[in-house]
Amino acid sequence: MTVNRKIEQWLASHKSASVSAKRPFVTLSYAQSWDGSITTRTGETLALSGTEATRLTHQLRSLHDGILVGVGTVLSDDPQLTVRDWAGSNPQPIVLDSRLRMPPTARLCQHSDRNCWVLTSLNESGEFGGQVEIMTLAGDADGRVNLPDALSLLWKKGIRMLMVEGGSKVITAFLKAQLADALVLTIAPTLVGGYKGVGSLGIDSKSLLPQIRPLYSQMLGDDLIMWGDLQYQQQVEL
Ligand SMILES: NC(=O)c1ccc[n+]([C@@H]2O[C@H](COP(=O)([O-])OP(=O)(O)OC[C@H]3O[C@@H](n4cnc5c(N)ncnc54)[C@H](OP(=O)(O)O)[C@@H]3O)[C@@H](O)[C@H]2O)c1
Repeated sequence: MTVNRKIEQWLASHKSASVSAKRPFVTLSYAQSWDGSITTRTGETLALSGTEATRLTHQLRSLHDGILVGVGTVLSDDPQLTVRDWAGSNPQPIVLDSRLRMPPTARLCQHSDRNCWVLTSLNESGEFGGQVEIMTLAGDADGRVNLPDALSLLWKKGIRMLMVEGGSKVITAFLKAQLADALVLTIAPTLVGGYKGVGSLGIDSKSLLPQIRPLYSQMLGDDLIMWGDLQYQQQVEL
């Protein structure tokens, strides 16, 4: 069976998980080098995935209702987050942007089929051009968009399967809040020595680190694809 089919079946088996949790099932998916870098430095774009792994990313997008990134990724990569290299529907684009730093010219704001949902903790949204819907949520202790509230809102708006594509600050925030359920990682055969995909989780003890279980892996072109469920060893208070 191809890795594409295996991951599709694996994700399908998780589809009902959101119903009891009343929040979307969250899949983290990103590409890193062997040393765990997702780019050279934050703000820089580095295409790490090969052709087949890029197709897998587009397939994954088509298997989720929504796709979420942080505003840092929008500012550096200006991504479209659409399904272009696979047959399927575009997921709902969603951006975490506490201070509304996203420019109205961003490509995410130009889709004809869907408005981009921008989740912010700013009360005064002001005028925003383009195809954008701004949703204001409470800020967390750092003034950033509160993730449990964001997921609850997305669930109410019909998002059951959510793909989180990065960048590092957002990936780390989902892991720290224990709100990521699964991980699909593309590992490109290169060393970058750059900006890591996962920042500090604030956990010192090995026994308390999140685990990936069961864990699956398969080569796809030159890249290694690893995927599995995230298991947390201790409860966090949110
Ligand atoms: N290799 C890959 O697969 C991949 C994928 C994606 C991105 N990237 C790379 O990653 C880099 C960007 O990563 P990044 O870490 O700088 O930025 P990021 O994670 O994309 O965005 C972080 C920003 O999101 C906003 N935010 C709002 N609520 C948040 C919350 N609850 N938790 C965390 N962030 C929240 C914050 O800005 P405000 O405080 O202003 O709201 C924060 O600074 C780029 O260089 C990009 O090329 C690589």
